[in-house]
Amino acid sequence: MPQVIGHRGAAGTHPENTMVSFQRAFEIGVDGIEFDVHRTLDGHLVVIHDPAVDRTTNGSGLVMAMTLEQLRSLDAGAWKGPQFAGQRVPTLQELVRATPPNVRLYLELKAGSVHYPGIEQELVDLLKAEGALERTQISSFDHRALVRLKEIAPELPLGMLTSCNHVDPVGMAREIGCEAIHPMWYWVTPDYVEAAHAAGLKVNVWTVDEPTAITMMKAAGVDGIISNFPERVKSA
Ligand code: G3P
Ligand code: CA
Repeated sequence: MPQVIGHRGAAGTHPENTMVSFQRAFEIGVDGIEFDVHRTLDGHLVVIHDPAVDRTTNGSGLVMAMTLEQLRSLDAGAWKGPQFAGQRVPTLQELVRATPPNVRLYLELKAGSVHYPGIEQELVDLLKAEGALERTQISSFDHRALVRLKEIAPELPLGMLTSCNHVDPVGMAREIGCEAIHPMWYWVTPDYVEAAHAAGLKVNVWTVDEPTAITMMKAAGVDGIISNFPERVKSA
């Protein structure tokens, strides 16, 4: 059975990247939670997917242009349903502290349209202060950020996120020093997994929601399945 990893908590049924979504994932009995990290204007690490708050809160604008106080004044749950009104954008510290010790933290460092100079050191400092470095894996599409993380904390497990069907994903992940490749699921075959395993790498696929796809990924031998519906991965 692959590791069951709740994408943004249990985002299929709950407002993504909020505490109620993560609590639901814990109730389901996930092995890990996946979530996304950005940084506020006043330097707080926060859990939200988009660079802007518009899609998942009742506010508007970039996270990097808001203070934590401004961000926390927004409702991050009501867009998913009135029963979730009052949810806030969690801080990374809040989420780490609320996560049971047996649940692994799959932290995705967001980068791209926005840039957060120095965030790699801040992540490592926070995780160390919380005693959570060993139960966290950091992934990113920004492979240069992964290289920086490796330099700062060689012991920190890393995941190489990719949405492309690369010629040599194993070589890329090894060059960075990752523990795992995180490919978009539909590129992944038994051969893909076998090549990764032969090189000592794990394969954690995203984002696998449909029962047929879940069955295919299990048959391919992946190590982890990241899903908006972790209950489906457990029961499939
Ligand atoms: O875990 C991988 C997946 O979360 C990456 O894509 O856009 O959902 O963050 P996205
Ligand atoms: Ca993500």
